[in-house]
Amino acid sequence: MSPEVRTAHPLRIARIRPEAAGAATITFDDPDQVVGGSAGWYVIVRVMVEGEEHRRAFSLSSTPELGQPPAITVKRHPGGLVSSHLVEHARPGDVVEVEPAAAGGFEVRIGAGRRRTVYCFAAGSGIVPIMSIVRGVLAVEEGSVVHLLYGNRTPGDAIFGGELAALAADHPERFRVSRMFSGRGERIDYRAVDRLLVSAPPVTADVWYLVCGPPGMNRTVEARLRSLGIPGDRLLVERYQPPQREGAPTPYDGAQVRLEDCDHVGTAAAGEVLLDALGGPASPLYYACRSGVCGTCRALLVAGDVDPGIPFALTEAEQAAGVVLTCVARPLSAEVVLRSLP
Ligand code: FES
Repeated sequence: MSPEVRTAHPLRIARIRPEAAGAATITFDDPDQVVGGSAGWYVIVRVMVEGEEHRRAFSLSSTPELGQPPAITVKRHPGGLVSSHLVEHARPGDVVEVEPAAAGGFEVRIGAGRRRTVYCFAAGSGIVPIMSIVRGVLAVEEGSVVHLLYGNRTPGDAIFGGELAALAADHPERFRVSRMFSGRGERIDYRAVDRLLVSAPPVTADVWYLVCGPPGMNRTVEARLRSLGIPGDRLLVERYQPPQREGAPTPYDGAQVRLEDCDHVGTAAAGEVLLDALGGPASPLYYACRSGVCGTCRALLVAGDVDPGIPFALTEAEQAAGVVLTCVARPLSAEVVLRSLP
């Protein structure tokens, strides 16, 4: 089986809107509607930085169900090569390679006939996919109610602060925003979760919980909601970064890593993940997030031993079947043999 090849389309940047906190919303011209997707989906963007192609996954901040052109909202991270490049150097008229939108498991299937209560917990740039969904639910589902608990360092750091306030004014009976600021010592912890649920009980039988923020917030909110018995199909957590893992075994320095279906071979330098051992951008393997979240770099472990890292994107069944994420897995044996997966 040969590695999957995905098509990226050259899309012109139509406009760039600066957001708070070193972030910008980049809207693309997509006359042939090649991006598509749904609220909560993500796109992979390929950009050239210093002569090298880099791919990153970004949540859509637009709402496809409302006919909006595709947009991503990018927050500049210290050391974030692609995010810094896009926020600081991208200009309207630039052409960027963008792949069709893909579902990452953070979607609620917006529908006109639905009646539900949606609780959203967001912090920082975690608001991006939630904004995409909230905008769509409020516009399309007239019987649905949305509660958003949104954390930022200061009021001035809030991405989409203006649009959220406008939505709350337009839908006073159906949308409530509660704000918390870490600069004032406030945290989205289990008490904050409980306060929201007690102060705004569900008004429908169908209740959803959406969580997207830094790893610590995600863990806390998810743990609290699970302890309250929230079923897994109604609790969606979007993760941008895998947490650090303590006590990981020492990788095998100099391991030979082979992709058997195309006989591509590489050598792992100390601590290198399998993807980099195979050449990173030059590897035949497809990849995007490089953090175990999007699942695109998966491969089957045919021989050898690896430390799987934290493979968020894999189910337990996939892990038991020997699937690894090459962007987070490291070799533990002298030879590792992989096979590409579609
Ligand atoms: S590149 Fe996203 S999980 Fe490996």
